[in-house]
Amino acid sequence: MWNPASYDQHSQVQFGLALEVLEQLDLTSVGSILDVGCGSGRVTAELAARCPAARVVGVDLAPEMVDFATRNYARPRLSFEVADAAALEFPQRFDLVCSFACLHWLADPPAAVASMGRLVNADGLLRVQLGGQGNMAFWLARVEELRNSQAWRDSFAGFKMPWSFLGLEPFQRALADMRVERLELICRTGRLASRQAFKSWFEAGWRPYVERLTTAELEAFIDQLLGTHQGEIEIPMVRVDLAARPG
Ligand SMILES: C[S@@+](CC[C@H](N)C(=O)[O-])C[C@H]1O[C@@H](n2cnc3c(N)ncnc32)[C@H](O)[C@@H]1O
Repeated sequence: MWNPASYDQHSQVQFGLALEVLEQLDLTSVGSILDVGCGSGRVTAELAARCPAARVVGVDLAPEMVDFATRNYARPRLSFEVADAAALEFPQRFDLVCSFACLHWLADPPAAVASMGRLVNADGLLRVQLGGQGNMAFWLARVEELRNSQAWRDSFAGFKMPWSFLGLEPFQRALADMRVERLELICRTGRLASRQAFKSWFEAGWRPYVERLTTAELEAFIDQLLGTHQGEIEIPMVRVDLAARPG
């Protein structure tokens, strides 16, 4: 289960990635937006602020996220609903269908991309960014090594890495019916100012791992993960960055 308030406050890395995409969007003639995997609603609200005349809908699988987003960000023309990105059904289409930092949580991200593409108006845009092959490899390798170590093995019994970080080919196939304007693996570096900032970011975003640990265990796990490291911590990331229009 997510802690939406913590995610809202400590997802500066994810927010920065989304902002970079938002800066690239031409929203002048956009009248409707669907944001898939909207989380706490912060990015969706930013989109809505940049496009005040549009009807904006954020959807997320987690009811606690939708509840938080509704309480904190909903306003006329901006609403939030529970929906599964793997089984999206909407009676209407949208001028912009987008998703940020969400689809790698699904078992089959390309299938979700294909179904999102079917919700885009004829002259609309599908704009998606998600973790791709090699995403957070440095930290993921360390976390995986640590959780498989003697000290932590029992806490993580039966645990499976929760993300699908894929290369481009499956997305190429999924977008075969669309006009692809961009399909790239891009590298970005997230920066966290201190050990405490890293801990808050980890706690907010690595939920399946965090849920296996008590508060004291999490503290110890992060201490072992970071060792003697002091100062700013870099998070090297690889993202699938895609833009496509109906063919
Ligand atoms: C890291 S958060 C990203 C939130 C927001 N888009 C952002 O950029 O900050 C990932 C979100 O994806 C949602 N999610 C995971 N699986 C999903 C699914 N199958 N359908 C819809 N949302 C999903 C989670 O509940 C979570 O809120």
